[in-house]
Amino acid sequence: MSDPTPFKIIAVDGGAATGKSSTSRAIAERLGLMHVDTGAHYRTLTYALLQAGAQADQPDSIGPKLAALQLGTEIDGRSARLSINHSVPDDAHIRSPEVNANVSKFAAIEAVREFLFNYQRSQAQVAREHGAFNGLIMEGRDIGSVIFPNAEFRFFLFADEATRAARRAKDGQTDSIAERDKRDSQRKTAPLVCPAGATRVDTGPLPLEGVVDHLCALIEA
Ligand code: C5P
Repeated sequence: MSDPTPFKIIAVDGGAATGKSSTSRAIAERLGLMHVDTGAHYRTLTYALLQAGAQADQPDSIGPKLAALQLGTEIDGRSARLSINHSVPDDAHIRSPEVNANVSKFAAIEAVREFLFNYQRSQAQVAREHGAFNGLIMEGRDIGSVIFPNAEFRFFLFADEATRAARRAKDGQTDSIAERDKRDSQRKTAPLVCPAGATRVDTGPLPLEGVVDHLCALIEA
């Protein structure tokens, strides 16, 4: 028997600056979904760990620092944001050059990924219980492969290098996207991959509106 509720889970994965966030946010708006940016989770955790004096090249020292962090969710419009010890750090903090340079190093540590795994899965329940959402759209690197491998819709976004660099430059950010992608693709746990069976979408040639129309048409078909 099919699920009687219309609640959908949509997984959006892809490398840095492939358009995941703008696309996911716009789809959330159009289809009335809760939006979760798991890149922001890793950034927030990296920021908190750096504040606590953690170093990514000393993974054994990270366990006790993680144990001191309490995770929560704050819903702001359609976006659910990760709070740590009851506070959501500003974008300026989690998108700083220091966090850009460290986030993929911390994200490669198994204890860090385990720490976020149940929290990220629990976001489907948060969206259901909230009552105002028709589903959840979650973006990241391992959503369709690890977090929600059975999601109704799984998309993998990609774009050519020049387009991606131009997007970051337009955001005014210092970010070595090629280096992060390499580290994210080569790590042992939950590497960046196009999950088997996911729909690949080239966001290079299309404006944002075109990508959003295309994905919404596939979801609503
Ligand atoms: O999406 P964004 O570029 O903000 O992600 C920052 C970093 O967080 C990525 O480079 C990656 O190291 C990590 N990440 C991850 N798994 C996810 C989402 C992000 O490892 N699901």
